[in-house]
Amino acid sequence: MSDHLISIVIATYNEASNIPELFRRIKEALKGYRYEIIIVDDSSPDGTAEIARRKMIEYGMDGRVIIRSERGLSSAILRGFRESRGDIIVVMDADLQHPPEVIPRLIEYMESRDLDIVIASRYIRGGGIESWSLYRRAISKLASFIARVLIPQIRGIKDPMSGFFALRRSVVDGIEMRPRGFKILLEIIVRGRWRRISEYPYVFGSRKQGRSKLRLRDMSSFILQVLDLSEYRLLKFMITGATGVAVNNIALYLLVSFGVPVYIASPIAIEIATINNFTINNLWTFTRFRRYGKWYSRLAKYHVAVGLGNAINYITVLLLNQYIGLIESNLLGIFLGFIANYLVSSEFVWEIKWASIEKSKDKKYLSASVVCRSL
Ligand code: GDD
Ligand code: MN
Repeated sequence: MSDHLISIVIATYNEASNIPELFRRIKEALKGYRYEIIIVDDSSPDGTAEIARRKMIEYGMDGRVIIRSERGLSSAILRGFRESRGDIIVVMDADLQHPPEVIPRLIEYMESRDLDIVIASRYIRGGGIESWSLYRRAISKLASFIARVLIPQIRGIKDPMSGFFALRRSVVDGIEMRPRGFKILLEIIVRGRWRRISEYPYVFGSRKQGRSKLRLRDMSSFILQVLDLSEYRLLKFMITGATGVAVNNIALYLLVSFGVPVYIASPIAIEIATINNFTINNLWTFTRFRRYGKWYSRLAKYHVAVGLGNAINYITVLLLNQYIGLIESNLLGIFLGFIANYLVSSEFVWEIKWASIEKSKDKKYLSASVVCRSL
């Protein structure tokens, strides 16, 4: 059993009716542990803060209730971090969708496997969702997909959007986080100081009382948060691609007008554009990944990565230039080739060494891998 002090940080907005059961179950589940409860309430009109304060005293639990005058889940959780003292911090919701009985398992799993972050996960074997509409499931999957495409740091993680997790204080200590949107875990994974992350399965329950505070507005702030954490790489890659389109077409046009046959002019134009794109992506799009390997080995890899796209570009020009025109066929070819290029480039040319994945040998956690990153 862990002898660290555990801080349980719970943000609340209108959760008065859930507080008594929440506290009762935490108290039961954490018998023998040293812990404190930090409630961060955004002046809920239903009196959540008052009930929390009373119940804390009634149950003889250690902790504090912080009342803020602003709103926002992520900023409330960050405030909770600052107000807490434990070496281990657990973040969870107040509405009992995160069963308190899972907390000791997260902590023991963290200690026994020397992890810095343990995510309570719905999407590894043994985990699940009790009652979500198909619509809500689809939204959640789509959000995970977008986040995974744009943020390479979370690619090995099945449930990076979880609101239920444990971390060591050292992960966030002294690091500035942007309290944007709902998904503070994304922020912690991307900016935090960690070596080893893993997931522990649990079943996301149905809400006991009250209703969800996730609003449509949170979807758009989620998109902004993900774009920000991705450092706008996809956008930069597209802008770079656009310069390449111009370079490619100008070169092709000039070469052909100087009498070079299309089947020779096209690959030359494509190569010039490839070097143009590599240079801009290397200096701008993937700036902070330039430390991996020598630039010329990246240039070589980049040629392989865009080889398929370039081949598609070339074949399209050869097949179609007589029917739809030179520039038209080139534009179509470029577009068809672009789609694969981004994923292949981000995965293999610039970012592959971000983190490594260690598969569990322990039967009990077969579906949970450990994501490791060198600091
Ligand atoms: N202080 C504060 N301020 N707390 C808030 C606010 C706010 O503006 N908005 C929501 N909360 C609290 C709620 O009171 C609850 O304890 C917790 O944050 C989660 O809010 P819910 O409204 O229950 O969110 P949800 O069930 O739709 O979403 C949950 O699941 C998602 C995974 O699909 C959350 O855990 C999300 O963080 C998680 O990503
Ligand atoms: Mn909820």
